[in-house]
Amino acid sequence: QNAAPTICGMPLKYVSLVTLAVQNALLTLIMHYSRVSTAPQHTYSAGSAVLMVELLKGFISLCVAFARLDSLNGASGSSLWNPRVQFYRFRRLGKEVFRPDCWKLSIPAILYVIQNNLQFVAVSNLEAATFQVSYQMKILTTAAFSVVLLRKKLSPTKWLALLFLAIGVGIVQIQNGSPSGHSASKNDMNAFKGFMAVVMACFTSGLAGVYFEMVLKNSQADLWVRNVQLSLFSLLPALVPIICSNSTPSGPAPGWLNQLFANFGVWAWATVLIQVLGGLLTALVIKYADNILKGFATSLSIVISFLASVALFDFQMTVTFILGSTVVLVATWMYNQPDAPAGDNFYPKECR
Ligand code: C5P
Repeated sequence: QNAAPTICGMPLKYVSLVTLAVQNALLTLIMHYSRVSTAPQHTYSAGSAVLMVELLKGFISLCVAFARLDSLNGASGSSLWNPRVQFYRFRRLGKEVFRPDCWKLSIPAILYVIQNNLQFVAVSNLEAATFQVSYQMKILTTAAFSVVLLRKKLSPTKWLALLFLAIGVGIVQIQNGSPSGHSASKNDMNAFKGFMAVVMACFTSGLAGVYFEMVLKNSQADLWVRNVQLSLFSLLPALVPIICSNSTPSGPAPGWLNQLFANFGVWAWATVLIQVLGGLLTALVIKYADNILKGFATSLSIVISFLASVALFDFQMTVTFILGSTVVLVATWMYNQPDAPAGDNFYPKECR
């Protein structure tokens, strides 16, 4: 039995969970700021950001998968500097990535690309804290798809928690309206559009997550190889919105390549990097912890972005917001209570 992996002496499981909580909160705040701090016509392309995230995530996953081949093969030391060894490692990795069942990753890849694009629409039209709370509906959709596709059984407490979650999100939506703060595009925010985008993003998140779980459970492939496959299959759907927004009836718009990174400033790059980190952390949390603990991490991030929204964006805390958020947090806590019989985890303890 291998010892649990550690980083600087701390269990990777907890490091990845705490980092995921901070990452979730940071992503919401920075993505929101990057979108609303300038007028919509002067903001960067969400499609380009999604594409960059997939390219970077895929590259990092490829490097990790390549490095992990050593431990899988038992190769070490001086053989690593041998060009022939490197060639065989590349070939082996290629075979792993393009294994016959790789197409299975195309479904979650498309769904995640849609989700990541919708996330930009949602965050551009809702307050950061409102988005964060509403996005907790992912638990609801993940549960529904797990019951339907994986035939998971949920205890009455979990169903009750899901009901509370829906009520809590509903309460939070009531207080939408009075705009606060002074950012350039506050008046362009459309709460209904934002909420619809969140609902659809939660739907794709749940379906993608459950489908990814099914693929991971039913195969022996390395998690990092699966991540490379996920990024590869994401590239084409990530290009679709870019091509559509840059094409005219007579062909591609002139200078469309320059448009790809127009207005791509520091905050846009920060959003991309934090999203890359989130994707990699999600993979680590699925491997070293499980989806239940992942739920905890995201609910912790509500509190972080909640307090930061008040401090940074002049977010006005209303009684209904506090009430709704509390109901969402209690529902998340209730949902994450262990059941007496084993086997209700969304993700297996040791996914590969
Ligand atoms: O919120 P949720 O858990 O659904 O978000 C998952 C996010 O993590 C998505 O942005 C998705 O692109 C990313 N992801 C990833 N690699 C995985 C699983 C998810 O990059 N193996």
